[in-house]
Amino acid sequence: MVMEQLRLGPGANFVYVFGTGEGGEGFVVDPGAEPDRILTCVKAHRLDITRIILTHHHHDHVGAAATLKARTGAKILAHAATRPYLRGEISLDGTLADGEGFAFGDHEVRVIHTPGHTPGGICLVVADRWLVTGDTLFIGNCGRTDLPGGDAHALYNSLQSLKRLPDHLVILPGHDYGDAPSRTLGEEKSRNPTLRAATFGEFQAIP
Ligand SMILES: [Fe+2]
Repeated sequence: MVMEQLRLGPGANFVYVFGTGEGGEGFVVDPGAEPDRILTCVKAHRLDITRIILTHHHHDHVGAAATLKARTGAKILAHAATRPYLRGEISLDGTLADGEGFAFGDHEVRVIHTPGHTPGGICLVVADRWLVTGDTLFIGNCGRTDLPGGDAHALYNSLQSLKRLPDHLVILPGHDYGDAPSRTLGEEKSRNPTLRAATFGEFQAIP
């Protein structure tokens, strides 16, 4: 498997490139900026990019999607609730629903709908090894809910569903906001206050 975490753009965004192996099929998550650097990574692994997956609609996660699609022919996919928020030249070629998955080499990619930061937010479990969390969950924190479509109660419920996933998954967040670029879900369950909160009241009280 190929997994590259690229820190791109002015907002400490993480863009992810996955591949079934060198020269294999690949997909890109949240191409927010710097398409040339993403394509350099894709070429270095000789990947055939077939999917561009958007964890949500915010510009810093989708800004390079149209360019990447034009250069690779990949399909742009996101949750259906993301569609109304997309602007400009980005249009979805398909949608990803909660619980849906697709085969990826010998492995599987599974979608979890995690609204709260945005209505169409999704996380991905890749190959039972990684948990791509977009702006739902960061290392040490979670996403904000004060932007259009944000919903604190929905985010709390989404974090509860992420807490039910196995501890060995390695969190791959949408921004480099924590004291490490990634950490296991098990470690974050004990360290991250937004995951430690046992009730919505506790969650809301986090400064
Ligand atoms: Fe966001």
